[in-house]
Amino acid sequence: MCGIIGIIGAAPAVPKLVEGLKRLEYRGYDSAGIATLVTGRIERRRAEGKIVNLQAALDADPLRGITGIGHTRWATHGRPSEANAHPHANSMVAVVHNGIIENFQELKRALAAEGHAFESDTDTEVIVHLVTRYLNRGMAPSQAAARAIAELEGAFALAMIFAGHPELVIGARRGSPLAVGYGDGEMFLGSDALALAPLTQRICYLEDGDVVELTRDGATIRDKFGAVAARPIRETAAIGDAIGKGNFAHYMLKEIYEQPTVIGDTLASFINPATRAVALPDLPFDFADLPRLQMLACGTSWHAALIARYWFESLAHLPVDVDIGSEFRYRAPQLAKGGAALAISQSGETADTLAALRLARELDQATMAIVNVAESTMAREADGTLLTHAGPEVGVASTKAFTTQLTVLACLAIAAARARGTVDGEREAALSAAITEVPARAAEVLDHDSRLKGLAQEVANARHVLFLGRGTGYPVALEGALKLKEITYVPAEGFAAGEMKHGPIALIDEDIPIIVVAPYDALFDKTASNMQEVIARGGRVIFLSDAKGIERLGDLAAATVELPAVDPFVAPILYTIPVQLLAYHAAVIRGTDVDQPRNLAKSVTVE
Ligand code: M6R
Repeated sequence: MCGIIGIIGAAPAVPKLVEGLKRLEYRGYDSAGIATLVTGRIERRRAEGKIVNLQAALDADPLRGITGIGHTRWATHGRPSEANAHPHANSMVAVVHNGIIENFQELKRALAAEGHAFESDTDTEVIVHLVTRYLNRGMAPSQAAARAIAELEGAFALAMIFAGHPELVIGARRGSPLAVGYGDGEMFLGSDALALAPLTQRICYLEDGDVVELTRDGATIRDKFGAVAARPIRETAAIGDAIGKGNFAHYMLKEIYEQPTVIGDTLASFINPATRAVALPDLPFDFADLPRLQMLACGTSWHAALIARYWFESLAHLPVDVDIGSEFRYRAPQLAKGGAALAISQSGETADTLAALRLARELDQATMAIVNVAESTMAREADGTLLTHAGPEVGVASTKAFTTQLTVLACLAIAAARARGTVDGEREAALSAAITEVPARAAEVLDHDSRLKGLAQEVANARHVLFLGRGTGYPVALEGALKLKEITYVPAEGFAAGEMKHGPIALIDEDIPIIVVAPYDALFDKTASNMQEVIARGGRVIFLSDAKGIERLGDLAAATVELPAVDPFVAPILYTIPVQLLAYHAAVIRGTDVDQPRNLAKSVTVE
């Protein structure tokens, strides 16, 4: 997962390459680098770590040139280091790469036997040597690149520049995303529209197998058969300004605070303002006779799917399976004839979810995607798409994307229940009213920020933290634990509260904070019993509940946070916000890199 950018410019390329890389840093920040053509020769600067380190290297030793390529890395092969940083280059060609070359060992052995000397531990460097092999045989750059690309196995997006060819950038896409940007006397390549936003709004997305030759005047795209192909050029929305931090210390905090607004924006697409009823666009299947729904996702998006399963089952009586993308794709899933698959993904690019969606399509399922990026691969490949309107999510820890996914899924569950005749008009109206109220209630939850900041101290200093919940509170517990571990590095686990007695209760002692997610719903008494079991063993509970729950059990807890009383249907959306804030403040206390935690990247486009 790495971000790549390429420019044939009319002015010095480096400032634009750096700006583009900053916008791609969410894809990885283990190292960064740039190569340009300076009087026809390849020159490069690279640095381990974030773009600021590359900027410092460029300040110390500036790089000229109007044609260049850049890269920000999430390490797959070879540790994060300057030697392993892209671009990989020799005197003839420089290459940046996002993805994995699966046959790099065989290629490397063959090339080494021919006398090619390798300088890095990466899979990418074989591309440099492979292209060089064909350049040395007298092929022109585009021919040599095409020949080399044909020998690569795996998933990749590539950009290359060639010594002595200042008006040429070659790109290729197989699996990983790549977009071409059309400027005025300038041409661009980038991993996504966000990277290209300050450069141009005229973008076309390459299809799998495409190879593109950029010159100053335009792009020639060839498809996987080598035939010249036309890809539609779209005007993208101006997203240049949407990614500032505003007055917030971190993107994550800004994105947590945006939730009332973006949940409202998302609802505006799916609720008819006149009737206040759910109104969805045409779907690629009919809920009325759908035999089974298969949901596919990873990470936080998987937690959204787990919550939605409760909704589809209880409201629409619809059989549902939920799978993690990386597991589904290597099982032999037995899917229902006439069934549908629903992929859930903020980025719409997650390699495992995308592969799972493709497998579901091969298995004759109607496919749909819930994504936050309208131009993403999943949005383009699925038979139908529902968009979350979260706006760009920059913090690696997903927050507003999750609650807007839940918002869309809640609307979908209501629509499914209506179509299947499993709710009457009165209940449907109550469900729609409950979801419509979420933005206002979410704003009330944010009022507890300073209380949660106080409680975060105990969490930040803990050696282990547990989150417990039942029903839809269980995936909220999983999400709370994931948020905490990914940004604080404090070991944390989420459990179904009823499972504690089957083993995890052995963990309990007075030093482990236990966050209990317990809206006053049909399962409250059960959760209450499990909470008493951990308190009886010395556990210190931070109790997230509403007024009725706190009246019943608040005295037993070490601390309480009183959330608004809402229809239990929407409780998981609201109870997610305090676990996000707890994780955020604990991370700030621990001094970790909140927006770019170690070892992670925002968009996981490798398997
Ligand atoms: O873009 P996606 O929603 O497909 O991403 C899936 C996961 O990689 C993502 O949710 C990840 O778990 C987040 N870092 C969690 O905060």
